[in-house]
Amino acid sequence: MISANEKLEDLNRRRKKIEEAGGTKRVEKQHASGKMTARERLEYFFDEGTFLEVDAFVQSREMSINVGIDEVYSESVIVGYGKVGGRTVCAFSQDFTISGGSLGEMHAKKICKIMDLAVKIGAPVVGLNDSGGARIQEGVESLTAYGNIFFKNVRYSGVIPQISAIMGPCAGGAVYSPALTDFVFMVEKTSQMFITGPQVIKTVTGEIIDQEQLGGAMTHNSVSGCAQFMFDSDKECLDQIKKLISFLPSNNTEKALEMEYTGDLNEVFPSLNEIIPDNPNKSYDMFEIIKVLVDNGDYMEYLPHFAKNIITCFARINGRTVGIIANQPTVMAGCLNIDAGDKSSKFIRTCDSFNIPLLTIVDVPGFLPGVNQEHGGIIRHGAKMLYAYSEATVPTVTLITRKCYGGACLAMAASKSVGIDMIFAWPTAEIAVMGAEGAVSIMYRNEIKNAENPKDKNKELLDNYKKEFSNPYQAAKNGLVDDVIDPSTSRQRIIDAFNMLEGKRDKLPAKKHGNIPL
Ligand code: HXC
Repeated sequence: MISANEKLEDLNRRRKKIEEAGGTKRVEKQHASGKMTARERLEYFFDEGTFLEVDAFVQSREMSINVGIDEVYSESVIVGYGKVGGRTVCAFSQDFTISGGSLGEMHAKKICKIMDLAVKIGAPVVGLNDSGGARIQEGVESLTAYGNIFFKNVRYSGVIPQISAIMGPCAGGAVYSPALTDFVFMVEKTSQMFITGPQVIKTVTGEIIDQEQLGGAMTHNSVSGCAQFMFDSDKECLDQIKKLISFLPSNNTEKALEMEYTGDLNEVFPSLNEIIPDNPNKSYDMFEIIKVLVDNGDYMEYLPHFAKNIITCFARINGRTVGIIANQPTVMAGCLNIDAGDKSSKFIRTCDSFNIPLLTIVDVPGFLPGVNQEHGGIIRHGAKMLYAYSEATVPTVTLITRKCYGGACLAMAASKSVGIDMIFAWPTAEIAVMGAEGAVSIMYRNEIKNAENPKDKNKELLDNYKKEFSNPYQAAKNGLVDDVIDPSTSRQRIIDAFNMLEGKRDKLPAKKHGNIPL
């Protein structure tokens, strides 16, 4: 008969085996390639001592039959829950030291189970991806296993925040689970995502490219837009995921955690009165405004390397999370283009899904003209912004600092007509159906052509147009903006507006789901 003590010893032996992961050699290889192990990542990520593993004894049928039940545990993925900043978070972390973190039936089952738990308790789920893809030994079963995860990614979208970190290889169809989540982080130099690798590409198209250029962190953060955050090391990446979580509610029925703000809420900022250059063709850095408006000048940028002509970031104002969308006049004069449409609409919808109020700061000369943009579908991509704002039911506040022309003005939430709750304009705002140059050249084409001195006539008409239309008062006169404000009081006014909107009630009409232009 086996005594209770012996049974306990057996349990401890099994646990020790689990903790050894794929063995010393493979762990050393993992460290040598600049990566933490799956367990180290989880231990670092969660508040100290709070991570609790579940399903550690799960094994694939394959392993059970062919290798012997004591040989390989954990199915190359560690799953569990713990606290992040004191709040419950669920996570899975693929263990590259065991079968290259490859994903088979039971590996996927563990991931699906922790996702189910996360939804049941209304907690975010974080996936740390480091895997050679489908477990080759399991053949086509692995595809079904991926499908099960994708299905849950979609069904749980908008219910709990889903965060993916790519911390190693992520190839083939495996990339689609991260792509279906709300946020994708990557680690520079040690992570890659691609559908087909360099070797296959070379065979099929003849193109020669290395893994990093094809699907490394910078490529996905600056070119493809498939990842929104990138950091230098595993630790920094994990720290930043924690920071992101601090801005988010745990699920779609909650509001984000409120932090106490102890500063003076009535402080005015005269520096804001000096920011807009007298020359309308001169740019200024929108971050200078954002830093003043948000608590402690602190914000977390979403997709900072992609479509830099538009800024998207999380920040706190009076201790409450807001999502900020702002044109950046230093890049392409802040024009909207295809990428800006994609970036901002995804961000707006992410915020709206998780009850995060939106602050939009507008200085937009229009949509970027060009055949590439038209043929690339700027109509469809710009429409995404209109769709996202019109669909949003969270409190929305817009501040117009300078240019605000035409359709771009609507796409940037500078109109009550797309459901914006409160619109403020600075006295420097130019709210018009189009820019002065374009308007004058169309309206007065003949008058200019027939003038004795067309250049002088053009200038005179331009000056008149600017005086009459390039200001906020035409819009204010018609109630299209709610107030024209002293720039130095902007933070105060925005805080008051969001306070007033705390109790906002808005519901979309009953429908199966909307049909956003994709
Ligand atoms: C089973 C795998 C594996 C896999 C790696 N391993 N990938 N085992 N299935 N998919 C094992 C290796 O045999 C090795 O085992 C250990 O993991 C580490 O792998 P190495 O090759 O030694 O590591 P490294 O040199 O760092 O190369 C990493 C790698 C390479 C680039 C990821 O392993 C690789 O190319 N793997 C195959 C990738 C792939 O084609 N996957 C299938 C994609 S198709 P030992 O015992 O030696 O330590 C797919 C379809 C999904 O994913 C569709 C979803 C819809």
